[in-house]
Amino acid sequence: MPRYRRIVHVIGARPNYMKIAPIYRAIEQHAAATAAGVEQILVHTGQHYSPEMSTQFFDELNMPRPDINLEVGSGSHAVQTARIMEAFEPVLTERQPDLVLVVGDVNSTIACALDAKKLHVDVAHVEAGLRSFDMRMPEEVNRVMTDRISDLLFTTEESGNRNLQAEGIADDKVFFVGNCMIDSLVSHLPKARSRPTLEEQGVTEGNYVLVTLHRPSNVDDPDTLKQLMGTLAEAAQRKPILIPLHPRTRGNLERFGWLDKFLAIPDLKVCEPLGYLDFLRCQTGAAAILTDSGGIQEESTYLGVPCITMRENTERPATISQGTNRLIGNDREQVLTALDEALSPRSAEHPVPPLWDGKAAERIAAVLLSA
Ligand code: UD1
Repeated sequence: MPRYRRIVHVIGARPNYMKIAPIYRAIEQHAAATAAGVEQILVHTGQHYSPEMSTQFFDELNMPRPDINLEVGSGSHAVQTARIMEAFEPVLTERQPDLVLVVGDVNSTIACALDAKKLHVDVAHVEAGLRSFDMRMPEEVNRVMTDRISDLLFTTEESGNRNLQAEGIADDKVFFVGNCMIDSLVSHLPKARSRPTLEEQGVTEGNYVLVTLHRPSNVDDPDTLKQLMGTLAEAAQRKPILIPLHPRTRGNLERFGWLDKFLAIPDLKVCEPLGYLDFLRCQTGAAAILTDSGGIQEESTYLGVPCITMRENTERPATISQGTNRLIGNDREQVLTALDEALSPRSAEHPVPPLWDGKAAERIAAVLLSA
């Protein structure tokens, strides 16, 4: 008999899809191979709701549609977290799962973990132990709180194991399995490479810089955002920029009255948020990536594309010590200098952190379904 028989998976926001998809599939395969009866229930909280931030990912990642959509939408952190908690609790009482599996660090992660724990349902956290040590980041609060109440903690890199140990989490709850997001990348790379995305976006292989920006610390404060606009305008003079614009960033540019000016920056191409395969294609073809995302630091490391992270800290240090990432902050001079270095010739050889091998989800399934 498997350890868990009815598993609820939680999806809330864009970065969750590529982590849940391989786990769902691996559990299905593992259960079929061992003739174990395991029921999986996919719950979408609706934290992200726009088609380009949510629905198209199900098709691209070959995931079944969610069994339940809580449709919570946006709100302040308190409102969003509270709405998810309120809507998710009856799912647990009605469906009676024996495990809730949450991934990453978004508001849906902590909200559903908290509900489950209070109803004595086990919680598994995938991507546990990552720490930026910056409690002003909402994601850091979500990470620390989720790990503290999880029963099974699946880590992606060695720093995660060390952080959990330092926080007094028992070793027998922690499983170093590698990176599920890299599982998705490995299996979708061939399909992504054959997409016509670059032509569609008007850029050419190896001749553009891919930019993503959405962290509140970069885009919510008008002075910071204005300075970043200037930095991007200068960066675009070195190489054309492609920027799929996050709704938070677009919303702020509009609110501050700068959207038209932003769209008019020469050699800066703005597009809507892209689907998974198109975005992957853009990462593979980029000369360099400028970002404040968490996941892109990891994907670029796997792909060997130089990544400049416009943040003061990272919860993913393996991308620096064993990857292509550099932590630069958002100072104009430093970003431009780092970009010049990233654009200079480099060797094709690049290391990849341990267990980022496309098999992390299989390891998770083996733990969850072991007797
Ligand atoms: C959230 C996550 C962040 C993750 C990011 C990826 C938290 C605390 N933050 O941040 O960790 O890296 O998603 O995208 O959970 N909006 C839309 N359409 C949508 C979703 C949002 O228009 O589908 C708008 C909202 O109305 C809001 C803004 O975008 O104005 C921000 O959305 P929100 O979910 O609050 O946070 P993110 O910045 O997306």
